[in-house]
Parts: sequence; C-alpha cells; structure tokens
Amino acid sequence: MLPPQSTSDKLCRLGFRYNVSQSVHTRCESMDDELSVLQNKVLELKKKRNALILAHNYQTMDIQEIADFVGDSLQLAQTSAEVQGYDMIVFAGVRFMAEMAAILAKNTPVYIPETEVLCPLAAFVDAEVVCKKKKEYPGVPVIVYVNTTAETKSEADMICTSGSAAEVVEAANCPRVIFGPDSNLADFVRKSTDVEIIDLEPSGHCYVHQRFTVEQIEKLKKQYPNAIAIAHPECPDEVQEAADLVGSTGMMVKTVAESEADTFLIATEMGLVHQLQKNNPEKTIIPVSEDAICFTMKRNTLKGIYNLLKNLPEENRVTVPEHMVQHIKNILDEMNRVKGNGKAAKVTTKATTS
Ligand code: 13P
Ligand code: SF4
Repeated sequence: MLPPQSTSDKLCRLGFRYNVSQSVHTRCESMDDELSVLQNKVLELKKKRNALILAHNYQTMDIQEIADFVGDSLQLAQTSAEVQGYDMIVFAGVRFMAEMAAILAKNTPVYIPETEVLCPLAAFVDAEVVCKKKKEYPGVPVIVYVNTTAETKSEADMICTSGSAAEVVEAANCPRVIFGPDSNLADFVRKSTDVEIIDLEPSGHCYVHQRFTVEQIEKLKKQYPNAIAIAHPECPDEVQEAADLVGSTGMMVKTVAESEADTFLIATEMGLVHQLQKNNPEKTIIPVSEDAICFTMKRNTLKGIYNLLKNLPEENRVTVPEHMVQHIKNILDEMNRVKGNGKAAKVTTKATTS
C-alpha cells in the first residue's frame, strides 16, 4: 500500500524512467493475430513509410495498441527529442503536442491524423496576453503550460507540462513567477513550491477536468474504502485535495503499475482509464466520471491514421513558423533538462511491426 497522504505527500513529483530498450518487434510477432484488420493495415503502411507513431495516453485503445510510444506530454516531448532513423512521425494527440514534436524531432516531418485538434485550454491565452502581463510585472518570468499555441510559447520564458510544472517553477529560481493558462495547475504548483504564483489567466481551465467534483470522489471512496484516488492537476483544487495523489497521466500509469494497492479511482480522461484497466488486468480501475472525454483528442481515429499514412496530405503536416522555432526549442530543451530523462513508455499491450 502507498503510505497515508498528507497534503504535501499528495503533490507527487515522480520521475519517469521507463524501460524503452525492450524489442517492440519481437513482442508484436507473438501478438499480431490479436490486432484488427485495420490495425494490421496501418502497421503495414507504417512500415512502408518508415513512420514512427507517438500517441498520448488519452487516445483510444486501438490507436495506443499500434503506437510505438504512448505517454504523457512530457514523455512524448522527451521521446521526440531522441528519435532517429524514421522518415516521418505520426502524432496522435492534440496540436500543441505535435508542434513540440516538430520542433524537437529536428528534420523528421511530423503529421497529425486530423487538422482541427487545438486544445481548448490553449485558446485561453495568446502571445498578446503574455506580453501584456510581462509589462504589468517587469522582470517576473512567464512560465507557460505546454497546452498553449506555439505563438504563445514564443513569448514565454519557460515551459512546463503537468509532469514537470513544480520543478520548472523552482528552476526559475525567482520568488514569484507568472504562470498559466491552467488555474488549477497553478494551484497545484502553489502547494508544491514556496514560489508566489501570479495567474496568467485566472479563468483558464480544461473543460474535461473542471467537471470533476469532490462529491464524485467521496461517493466512490465510500464504495471502495481501500481504493487510492488519483487526480490530474487540471482538476479543481478541492478535487485535488479530496484525492490521495495528484499527478500527470504518466504519473498515474507509473503509480498504478507499481503500487501494491489493487483498486484505483482515476480522475482524468477516459482514454487513460481504458489503458490502465487493460494493462493492469489484476487491478480494479474505476473512472471518477465516465463523462470525462476530451473531444479534441477523440477526433483522432485509427481510420484517420490509415488515411494519413496512405495519402500524406500536406495540410496534415505540422510546422512551426521558423522565427519561433529556436526560442521554443531552447525552452523545451530546458524543460527536458530540468525534469531529467523520462521517455514515453513503449506500449505494453500490443506493439508494432516496424
Ligand atoms: P499530461 O501531460 O498529464 O498527459 O496532460 C496532458 C493533458 O492534456 C491533460 O489534459
Ligand atoms: Fe486540452 Fe483538456 Fe483535452 Fe487535455 S483534456 S487536451 S487540456 S481539452
């Protein structure tokens, strides 16, 4: 069992060191017959194109199963920075994640299966908001969450993911910082550090995580008294307080796999809930709300990936304006340096034939 939780214990800052040396090729051969016809077609095209498929934890299982790497934003950014020898990357996630891959993956072109995948949280701020705040607080560094557009990032001083927010804020080494746009993640950072946090945009939130409630967690805790409740830091502060642990989707994967507990209440998007249940069949994974669906993430489909690999439409290529690239690359490199080397996990269900 995990130890009893005090408020500070809840503020998990786990490192991620997945074993990525395992041969995907070998594992896939033994599991190939379990893949669907469409999954096999995607794998054939993937091989032909010499493509790497990266998928976020919120993708549907049929996509996660054919991906080379599945992980949280930080793990996928770190993995993008290290991949070599592919002719293209297919990024199944939202646009800002693919933009990070395009910047970090050097000369490897990055494609997204669907073009309309702007994370709604990213729309809360733009470059103008950042510049205005900088004028209001001269000399105070602006740290933006990666769930922002490249344009917003190009005006920021530092970048963080949910899995690296506290460390990045501490690494700024300033008594106060401007942070956003997610106000709940800002609360998480306030409790994890001694740094004064000025909200970049006090109303910024993710509509998927904002809807979790304390009542949902308390009701499930009565039903499953031994369960460990884990909430994403995009959940409201009181939901974070009601949970036993708070952390990124990657932290949830690691905790469920490594904990001796057998029942978990998960307050994040359903894609991760499905992954956790599939990869930990001996454990009971309870979603805190089955309504937690990110419709932007869910625009990506297996069929969309198939069409992308078949036709390679130019509009699906993700590029970042040249004048923004170097600055964003520098601050992403700094984020990866601060958080250490945690790569996305190779899939543990089925894998690819590449
Ligand atoms: P993670 O970095 O924890 O995967 O979060 C990304 C995200 O979009 C959460 O809503
Ligand atoms: Fe954006 Fe929320 Fe979807 Fe994550 S879950 S991609 S923050 S809308």
